[in-house]
Amino acid sequence: MNDFIITQDGSNTLYSKKYNQHFHDVDTGAIKESLTKHVIPALEIKKDSKTLRILDICFGIGYNTFSTIYYAKKNNLNIKFEFYSPEFDEELIKSLSTFSFPKEFDDIKEIIQEIALNQKYKDDNLEIIVHIGDAREYIKNLNNIDIVYQDAFSAEVNKELWTVEYFKDIYNACNQDAVLTTYSVSTPIRLSLYEAGFFIYEIKPVKKKQTLAFKHLKEIDAKYIDMELKKTRNKEARALYDNK
Ligand SMILES: C[S@@+](CC[C@H](N)C(=O)[O-])C[C@H]1O[C@@H](n2cnc3c(N)ncnc32)[C@H](O)[C@@H]1O
Repeated sequence: MNDFIITQDGSNTLYSKKYNQHFHDVDTGAIKESLTKHVIPALEIKKDSKTLRILDICFGIGYNTFSTIYYAKKNNLNIKFEFYSPEFDEELIKSLSTFSFPKEFDDIKEIIQEIALNQKYKDDNLEIIVHIGDAREYIKNLNNIDIVYQDAFSAEVNKELWTVEYFKDIYNACNQDAVLTTYSVSTPIRLSLYEAGFFIYEIKPVKKKQTLAFKHLKEIDAKYIDMELKKTRNKEARALYDNK
C-alpha cells in the first residue's frame, strides 16, 4: 500500500497509494520537515514547560513524535512528554520495526521497537500512546493538550482532518496556552481554524511559509494573520465543513 522513498535530506519516507501522497515533503526531507515545521516552532514556544501533552495528528511513520524526543534530548530540555497519536493503519505501525530511520533516531531504537510491537511506550519521563482508530473519534476524549502537530495528508484527500467541526474538537482538547503547528497555509484551512476559534499566525522557518494557531492573541515572533481582513479581501474563500 506504501512505496519507500528517499528524501532530499537522506531520511526515508513513504508514498501512500491509498491517498496518492507522500508522507513528507520530499524536497525538504522527512526529518528536516518534522523538525523545522513542527518540533522546533512548538518547542521554542514551550521550552520552559515541565510537562507537555502532545497530540500528533496522525502517527504515520512517527517522525514528529520521534523528532521531538530526539530534539529534546539533544538540547537537554528537562521536559516530561506525553504523546497521544491516532492512526488508522495498524500494519504501518507494526512495520516500523524494520523501517530504516535516520541516524538521529539511533538512540531511541528501543522506543521505536516498543511502539511497533505494542503501540505504546512508557518510562519515567516519556509516555507514547498510539491509538489504532479514527482520529475524529479519538480527539473527542482528549483534554489539556499543549501542542498539536497537525500533519494529516492534504485536505483534497484527507478532508475530515481539516474541517471546522474537526478543529472545534481540537480546540476543546487544547489547554488555553496550546500551540498548533501545520504546514498548510491555504486560506480555506486557516478559515477552518479561525471559525473553530483559533487565532492565526505565520512563520517561515525554511523556504516555505507555514501556520501556527493559538486560542488567544500572542506576543510572539510571528506574523499575525487578520482573518476578518482576509475574508474582505478574498470573498470567495470558504472554511471547510464536514457536509459541504
Ligand atoms: C501525512 S501522514 C502522517 C505523517 C506523520 N507525521 C509521519 O511522520 O509519518 C498521515 C497519516 O494519517 C493517517 N490517517 C489519515 N486519516 C486518518 C484518520 N481519520 N484517523 C486516523 N489516521 C488517519 C494515515 O493513515 C497516515 O498514516
